[in-house]
Amino acid sequence: MTNWQELDSKYYMQTIVRHPVTIARGKGARVWDDAGKEYLDFVGGLAVNCLGHCHPVVVQAITEQANTLMQTSLWYYNIPMLRLAELLVKNSCLQRVFICNSGLEANEGAVKLARRYGALKLNGAYEIITTEQSFHGRSVATTAASGQKKMHTPYEPLPVGFINVANNSIDAIKGATTDKTCAVMLELVQAEGGVNMPAEGFLKAVRAWCDEKGILLILDEVQTGIGRLGTLFGYQQFGIEPDIMTLAKGLGGGVPIGALLAKEKAAVFTLGDHNSTFGGNALTSATAFATLKYVIEHDVAGNARRTGEYLMKGLTVLKHKYPFVTDVRGLGLLVAMEFNADIAQDIVADCISQGMLVNRLKPNAIRFIPPLIIGEREVDEALDILDHSLATVAKKSVK
Ligand SMILES: Cc1ncc(COP(=O)(O)O)c(C=O)c1O
Repeated sequence: MTNWQELDSKYYMQTIVRHPVTIARGKGARVWDDAGKEYLDFVGGLAVNCLGHCHPVVVQAITEQANTLMQTSLWYYNIPMLRLAELLVKNSCLQRVFICNSGLEANEGAVKLARRYGALKLNGAYEIITTEQSFHGRSVATTAASGQKKMHTPYEPLPVGFINVANNSIDAIKGATTDKTCAVMLELVQAEGGVNMPAEGFLKAVRAWCDEKGILLILDEVQTGIGRLGTLFGYQQFGIEPDIMTLAKGLGGGVPIGALLAKEKAAVFTLGDHNSTFGGNALTSATAFATLKYVIEHDVAGNARRTGEYLMKGLTVLKHKYPFVTDVRGLGLLVAMEFNADIAQDIVADCISQGMLVNRLKPNAIRFIPPLIIGEREVDEALDILDHSLATVAKKSVK
């Protein structure tokens, strides 16, 4: 049998420490490695496979579209891209859409759009305020937007115009706002940065401040959108609306796609301002259309809310059982468990040995981002496995 992991070390750029699992196929909330071992998948392609692996609706959309038309360039109209744009607008508070290929691209587009807004409506304002621990992508600009120093250092000097301030502090945002500010950019729940929940009243206060100053509120819903938090878009449960919103991850049900959405007043791009070779291609747009339609029609977000609550309850029981579990937090099916020691890697490794994939979020925290179609049965199974892992790791490493 080919040693795929040896090929990785020989040929692939070594930018990430992979877990020793070569995933060969998937179905629903399960994957199988190249030796045929089964795993319950609570990583879901990093919060991407909202309908699980190889959902028939996703597979059918890909297959049909691949047999019809895949790529045209944006110099021509294509039907799937326009159907997707219409579906997004009809189900959100935004009125204009630009389809791209990933989360960072959507955010890069949001930055460009906010800068155009600043240039046209705010006397050339270009600065964007973001929060510490946020994550907005890995391009040079979205690296600067991300409030994580460790991401900045290797790529300095970074582009100017991004002001990172303390998370959850409306005073910090107010203090950083000047006549150069064109926007505030936030995740509703900081996902990669630790599943950090917004403080009570923070998001509404930011919205009010943006309104008072006439600046834009950009919500990065790349991870929280498409049902992950228990509503189709996360903003719907915080009593605010963004001027600009970005999506990716769950949108394509597994294929790479992103979207930039804006309210009419913020949609200031004019002809020639933005483009993309693959953006809005018929293949991924048709897949995203089918995925989003399914998510809406089958209330997949409602399932994420209910199952997420069930998961949180189960994790809280484990928290009480194991004193080294210091926190369980999250919303919908974006949930983290934190420890008082750096044991996340050991827990993840033990879960893998028992046949479950779970994400190592930080040295001392793990994250659960399963497909949104899972039910209580899968959660019970995951809790059982985790219980065993916590017990095993507790015996080994926690005094
Ligand atoms: C909130 C958020 N924004 C942006 C990104 C970047 O998305 P992508 O990896 O598709 O470029 C991520 C990825 O994890 C994310 O969680």
